[in-house]
Amino acid sequence: MDRKFFWIIVATWLVAVTAFSVYDEDLDEDFREQGDRKGKILFPFVSIVRFANTDCASTNTMNGTCLARRECNNLNGTITGTCASRRGRCCIVSRTCGSTTNVNNTYFTSPGYRGAYAGGQTCTLIVNRCNSNVCQLRIDFLDMVLAQPSGDGVCLTDAVTITGGNTIVPTICGDNTGQTIFVDFNQDAAITITITATLATTFSRRWNMRLTQLGCDCPGIAPNGCLQYYTGLTGTINSFNYGTTPNTALSASLVTGTRQIANLNYGICIRMEAGYCAIQYSQAANDIYSFTVTGDVDGADNTVLGTTVGAVNGAACTTDFVVIPNPTVVATGVTAGTDRFCGLGFVPVQTGAKPFVLYVVTDANEGATATTPPDVSNRGFSLAYTQVAC
Ligand SMILES: *[C@@H]1O[C@H](CO)[C@@H](O)[C@H](O)[C@H]1NC(C)=O
Ligand SMILES: *[C@@H]1O[C@H](CO)[C@@H](O)[C@H](O)[C@H]1NC(C)=O
Ligand SMILES: *[C@@H]1O[C@H](CO)[C@@H](O)[C@H](O)[C@H]1NC(C)=O
Repeated sequence: MDRKFFWIIVATWLVAVTAFSVYDEDLDEDFREQGDRKGKILFPFVSIVRFANTDCASTNTMNGTCLARRECNNLNGTITGTCASRRGRCCIVSRTCGSTTNVNNTYFTSPGYRGAYAGGQTCTLIVNRCNSNVCQLRIDFLDMVLAQPSGDGVCLTDAVTITGGNTIVPTICGDNTGQTIFVDFNQDAAITITITATLATTFSRRWNMRLTQLGCDCPGIAPNGCLQYYTGLTGTINSFNYGTTPNTALSASLVTGTRQIANLNYGICIRMEAGYCAIQYSQAANDIYSFTVTGDVDGADNTVLGTTVGAVNGAACTTDFVVIPNPTVVATGVTAGTDRFCGLGFVPVQTGAKPFVLYVVTDANEGATATTPPDVSNRGFSLAYTQVAC
């Protein structure tokens, strides 16, 4: 009986050792380390089980995936530590200008990140699907500081353009740290991310974006065509390049420039959470500039900015506006009678129209003084949303 057991152990051990070298040199190495330390052979057949390729925390700016060392080297990844009880290696895949990737969770950074990037070239990353079950690319702008648009809201100095997918992505620039967009793949076609960065600027230009490939059945996937997608009962939605300081560039009419980006036309979807039937929007508190979409910010004071006096809606909103379908005014419960909102203030509204979508439209000129009222120093919007229980 004892003898039989002994031979079973020996046979298992042999199989395990063979599997090591076939599968992975890392396991072998770890096994040797452990063997040395403990001074005896540990159960090698435990290690033969392949570990899951889960996320592993790596650095402040990038997460890795737990892979075998050889796999990481094949991806030209960077090993930052061990994972899976030291059997795997935490592997970061990051790429910069002029690369191609088909690796899930690739980081796309400016050259020399986190240092400032002086620009001077067009920087492109081509993203191919990692497999044919991938439908969408989620792009998290973890850190995104480009030049501000011209005073008229056009991305002339720097620009991010994203092409090749099924989603139309507006050209954006400026400060977009924290924004996330979702781009549908057009079957096997690659999605190309291009950053144009004009040489010689005096600010700290840099970017770091995480590119997550989402399977068609992935719970985190955004509904088709939604450029942005929020989940959770509450949240804050900022327009692209929303910020708390004005753009220092002057417009063509020589008035204070805008942070609001020109030529936008996109939908922001909010997932309806279970047991919630309506959604309220209000402009972000403690910031009188948090809804400045049309009109003259410089010519208005705090009796206008962020108040009902500054709020404009309906047919008066023709150039730049947000659309909220069929809302009622929260304060009165009375229908707003319009779905377009613009001006220098936003009165809180609620809507039960489903799905929950907020549309954003801007025209080609964000510094127009020919319009009445003129657009001066607009910043865009920062809107807080709260879902309302059924
Ligand atoms: C790393 O992963 C954690 C947990 O999923 C997440 O909260 C964090 O934002 C990620 N960080 C980066 C830099 O991707
Ligand atoms: C890794 O780098 C080598 C040499 O630059 C290149 O030939 C290869 O295609 C790269 N592999 C991946 C997966 O990027
Ligand atoms: C890519 O990675 C993310 C997070 O690590 C995961 O949720 C997603 O399913 C992965 N995509 C594919 C196609 O495996």
